[in-house]
Amino acid sequence: MNLDRHKSFLIGNYALPPIEIVRGKGACLWDSTGKEYLDFTSGIAVTNLGHSHPEWVKRLQEQAEQLVHCSNLFSIPEQVRLAERLVHKIGAGKVLFCNSGAEANEAMLKLSRLHGNSLDPKRSKILVAQNGFHGRTLGALSATESIKYRQGFEPLLPGFVFCRLNDLSDFEKAVDDQTAAVLVESIQGEGGLHVSTDEFLLGLQDLCNRHELLFLMDEVQAGIARTGEFLGYQKSGAQPDAIAMAKGLGGGFPIGAIWVSDQHASLFTPGSHGTTFGGSPLACSAAHAVLDVIENENLIQQAQQMGNLLGDGLRNLATEFPASILEIRGRGLMLGVQLAFDPAGLISKLREKGLLTVGAAGQTLRILPPLTIKEEQVVKALEILDSCLKETAP
Ligand SMILES: Cc1ncc(COP(=O)(O)O)c(C=O)c1O
Repeated sequence: MNLDRHKSFLIGNYALPPIEIVRGKGACLWDSTGKEYLDFTSGIAVTNLGHSHPEWVKRLQEQAEQLVHCSNLFSIPEQVRLAERLVHKIGAGKVLFCNSGAEANEAMLKLSRLHGNSLDPKRSKILVAQNGFHGRTLGALSATESIKYRQGFEPLLPGFVFCRLNDLSDFEKAVDDQTAAVLVESIQGEGGLHVSTDEFLLGLQDLCNRHELLFLMDEVQAGIARTGEFLGYQKSGAQPDAIAMAKGLGGGFPIGAIWVSDQHASLFTPGSHGTTFGGSPLACSAAHAVLDVIENENLIQQAQQMGNLLGDGLRNLATEFPASILEIRGRGLMLGVQLAFDPAGLISKLREKGLLTVGAAGQTLRILPPLTIKEEQVVKALEILDSCLKETAP
């Protein structure tokens, strides 16, 4: 890898990379020296089918030959059908397509403006959870509490009130006559794999109903079968008014979407929002392939089963290394290992031994394998973790 060229031509908004990745297949990645890795990052919860799943590749190739892009000036059959499939999985409502998680959240923030303004122009505040992450555009960043992401970009949008996750009374106390919406993740990804409890999500729904607030759910990282439900909040039985999706929806091809309940879907009117690439035929075909493979290969059950195996293995490691591992959090194949030290050293040791992982806030090691992961690959990853923890034990 030529780091000098990397540094010469790329803006330095990411940390300098330790390796150069050139190929992927299933749960494996290869670097430019030919070294093989087990990928327990999935492109940060994106390649949920694994790399280059044959069905996904075939569908993209077929669609690329048929039609890649056409504007939303025209009806796109793949888009209409994808919206219909998402509505069947979520509930009565409508869908708007975009290209990323931040864009999906921006669309929900704009929805909450439309909702607030329809009730009373001073209703623009949005309650969000401390430690959450909603993206890097200025609106999504304003909804993100961590100084790490915000620093240098002020002034951000006003009107976001940060409340404690899983503390209903903190949210309740923050509601006033200017509040328009509540926005949370079902499982905080970047924030360190903190799980919103079922009672909390049901309580937020009730709070929103009582105060005419929009209940906005960010499923960008937890969504698309990763937690062992199609969307992470679905386990709770709560019913949000709008939901942001991206990452895993395209399985590696950029696509984002918001689902909005029927009651609020008509807040957007012709011309009130849009994006050139949103819901292109190629992006929607990638998402159809993802949904088909999830259904045909029972990936929701697979995420539960492999998640149990991996979770049990991680809990055993926590027992074996009590001074290093403080807690295992998360659900399905969205798991976090709360460490007693900064994870950076462990992440590079794991990488040297062929396991790719990613950090999250609060000294958390994030474990996000593809949903197609095999039992023997889970076992191998646990062995690598075990041997690296032995070397890293404080
Ligand atoms: C919960 C959540 N929301 C939004 C985003 C932003 O998504 P994107 O990077 O596609 O803009 C992320 C990205 O990590 C995320 O985890």
